[in-house]
Amino acid sequence: MKIIKVANYEAMSIEGADHILTQLIKKRLNVLGLATGGTPEGLYQILREKINEKALSLNYLHTVNLDEYIGLPADSPASYHYYMQDIFFKHIPIPKENTHLPNGYVDDVVEECTRYEELIESLGGVDLQLLGIGQNGHIGFNEPGSPFNGRTRIVDLAPSTIEANARYFSSKNDVPRQAITMGIKTIMKSRQILLLASGKEKAEAVKALIEGDQSEDIPATALQGHPHLTVIADEAALSGV
Ligand code: GLP
Repeated sequence: MKIIKVANYEAMSIEGADHILTQLIKKRLNVLGLATGGTPEGLYQILREKINEKALSLNYLHTVNLDEYIGLPADSPASYHYYMQDIFFKHIPIPKENTHLPNGYVDDVVEECTRYEELIESLGGVDLQLLGIGQNGHIGFNEPGSPFNGRTRIVDLAPSTIEANARYFSSKNDVPRQAITMGIKTIMKSRQILLLASGKEKAEAVKALIEGDQSEDIPATALQGHPHLTVIADEAALSGV
């Protein structure tokens, strides 16, 4: 695990964007795994500017997102489809059909999970997966207790995750109770992982990721076994280490 300590959120976003940009320039990424949440927003803003500044062509690139709520249509402002479009995809020259997210607004969600897992395989797997981390150590929507060998599946959100994500909805009651997420095994198969963390709310989860014993109770500890994991975290997120 390579740990890059930076001063604050802005420095984390710059460092993270640079990490991805360098590899995009060298055309080392064919499939880029993406994450949502507050943590990567700054990275997306910087990366989209750099991509345009350098006039990179991204026709060949596919993106696969980690997760999506069940029951929200793509045009709902709280959906991850909307988030990705709004913050990143509409600003960069990538064909829309190359941007993939699990669809939580279908009749057969189980079938959708299988489709998504197979899609990732058919694209040749993920070259670099971007991750945030939940306060309880979740990655994607793999909540505590998620099996380390899990694939893309339906999950129940933990009460603390519903609480933390309520800021994107009009009320806590509007937060969906379930989501589709890549499993921990799906994530671990990525050839590289880049995890970002900022703020003291993440300090406990980051400490467990770096120093804790591996346990399905703290899903991020699975990442300790990954051969190419880079963590970019600010001083507050690393304050427990
Ligand atoms: C959300 C997402 C995760 C994200 C995490 C942290 O529930 N499903 O992919 O990493 O929680 O979110 P934030 O970056 O807003 O703290």
